[in-house]
Amino acid sequence: MTTNPALPANAAGTFLLGGDLPVSRMGFGAMKLPSRDWEGPACDPEQSVRVLRRAVELGVDHIDTAWFYFFREVSAHGLIRRALHPYRDGLVIATKVGPGRDPEGRWLEPADREALRAAVHRDLRELGVDRLDVVHLRRMPSQSSIAEPFAALAELREEGLIRHLGVSNVNEAQLAEAEAIAPVVTVQNKFSVLDRTAEQDRLLADCTARGIAFVPFYPLGGTGVPDHPALRRVAERHGATRAQVMVAWLLALSPSVLAIPGTSSPAHLEENIAAAALRLDAADLAELEKLTVSAK
Ligand SMILES: NC(=O)c1ccc[n+]([C@@H]2O[C@H](COP(=O)([O-])OP(=O)(O)OC[C@H]3O[C@@H](n4cnc5c(N)ncnc54)[C@H](OP(=O)(O)O)[C@@H]3O)[C@@H](O)[C@H]2O)c1
Repeated sequence: MTTNPALPANAAGTFLLGGDLPVSRMGFGAMKLPSRDWEGPACDPEQSVRVLRRAVELGVDHIDTAWFYFFREVSAHGLIRRALHPYRDGLVIATKVGPGRDPEGRWLEPADREALRAAVHRDLRELGVDRLDVVHLRRMPSQSSIAEPFAALAELREEGLIRHLGVSNVNEAQLAEAEAIAPVVTVQNKFSVLDRTAEQDRLLADCTARGIAFVPFYPLGGTGVPDHPALRRVAERHGATRAQVMVAWLLALSPSVLAIPGTSSPAHLEENIAAAALRLDAADLAELEKLTVSAK
């Protein structure tokens, strides 16, 4: 499927994920759909279903999710399946495996090879697909090497259960380690205008040079949009919101950045997706650059 340029999400253009999956650079993150936080409160599942359907109507064709995004009996995978299955041609659903989580929601040790295999089979089952478009290995802080778990995912890719692999929460050495095992098409790391490091900048430049998507998580800060005078000033100049400026800043950094802001609010969804059309000028970027330098 080719993306429809008339749809709002496509105003920032498209990216060819893994060389064969065209996606709008404005995507959607599903983590906040079951609940606002790991401990709740729960979101209204009917509203979350509406948000997902509206996102796709607005042109979103890249949704980020994980089996461990759940609160009690409501999961992001379940909401996505309920809202969007059978999936329209060209909708790319990216998942993540790595963390362990028990049914009560408690975090467990990072998944070993068997647990990773089980997680991928769970993704397939819960999303109702025969093959996963993109699976990220989400590195946990206790893991300095990702070679073993990434090799387990590479096997599943060889078996035809995964189309493309990504990595998440990695540094340059861990990316190189993964690439020595199998091709990596996305890097998903914490990154925003207020949360930026020199190493992340280097990774972004490296991904851009090599056609790897760079997918910042917590693009809006993770828990609500920060209030900062520079963000406010740039937003006022454009008649935009701070959230829109944060998203537009990411999209302006590199053509390889894919935005996945998360929300369970229909109004915030419309607002975030409209940011695909917001063009920051040199003065805006210079003002925001000072902000990121001071945040480093
Ligand atoms: N790889 C990883 O380890 C990892 C970790 C975290 C997240 N992720 C992925 O990254 C995606 C994005 O991160 P995230 O959803 O946690 O955080 P985020 O996108 O930075 O921010 C979401 C938060 O901001 C609020 N929000 C969204 N739009 C807003 C707007 N226009 N105005 C005001 N508030 C707004 C949301 O609340 P409302 O619901 O009220 O709008 C929610 O609390 C996730 O959904 C997930 O797919 C990956």
